[in-house]
Amino acid sequence: MQQIVDDIAAEMLSRPDRGKVATYIPQLACVDPAHFGISVVMEDGTSYNAGDATTPFSIQSISKMFTLTMALGKMGDAVWKRVGREPSGDPFNSIVQLEVEHGRPRNPFINAGAIAIADAIMMGHEPKETLAEILQFMRFLSDDDSVYIDEKVARSEQLTGDRNASLAHFMASFGHFKNPVDKVLGVYFHHCSLAMTCHQLAKAGAFLVSDGTSQLINSKVVGPQRARRINSLMLLCGHYDGSGEFAFRVGLPGKSGVGGGILAVAPGKASIAVWSPGLDVVGNSHLGTLALEQLAEKTGWSVF
Ligand code: DON
Repeated sequence: MQQIVDDIAAEMLSRPDRGKVATYIPQLACVDPAHFGISVVMEDGTSYNAGDATTPFSIQSISKMFTLTMALGKMGDAVWKRVGREPSGDPFNSIVQLEVEHGRPRNPFINAGAIAIADAIMMGHEPKETLAEILQFMRFLSDDDSVYIDEKVARSEQLTGDRNASLAHFMASFGHFKNPVDKVLGVYFHHCSLAMTCHQLAKAGAFLVSDGTSQLINSKVVGPQRARRINSLMLLCGHYDGSGEFAFRVGLPGKSGVGGGILAVAPGKASIAVWSPGLDVVGNSHLGTLALEQLAEKTGWSVF
């Protein structure tokens, strides 16, 4: 396995086609597109790292899978009153379906859905308390206390977050929100600004490999049915309007972020995180996807 990840990293680090770094969040535009990292954490916790696997990056929308997990833990199936479970087929920050569907976002991974989940997990608490809880959860799952929230990225998002603010106010106009919109947005912007390395992220995803129990931290995070359901949502909605393409090419549940990271899960086998900051046209990591495609091909890990 070490040879496989070394080969993939060597190829990805040398390729000239790197996609385009996200610029709509100015702080992300500063990241060097030359980076590439990969970390594979096997079911038993053994890990294989290559390239920039220990460099922290902004996990962005990958955090939405973890806040969904928290929301399911706090309120169980009541989560599905707030968000649906269907792929949107639209860009991650689209507003068009919200009006027709009465302010209930299609799924928890598009921005509107993740903002609704942020409202759900606050349960009347202040953003600071909710963020401390999210940070604690991420540190617990990754077995690493150095995971942090990048305040510069969070501020950058807040300053340019008009679209997300529109989505949030629009949903609130249907009476769905339990907390003030500005506080909910504060939680959302900050959890998107979690900084983690590929290795930390792959470790944090380990519970989805083995029916909800992370062998790495020896802890049941969710039950088997919930783990299967989170994986199914990642497969169908984890890459927005690029989810079909990702399933076609890679064949694994995965969640992407505009920081260029992707967390993918090979059930019963491994949790995998890749990072390359350059994105394709729909906002998913260009080389990250290619790397996962190669890994799935070499290991036979596709779920199909
Ligand atoms: O709200 C945003 O636009 C970002 N914080 C997250 C978007 C994102 O990562 C979409 N992923 N591909």
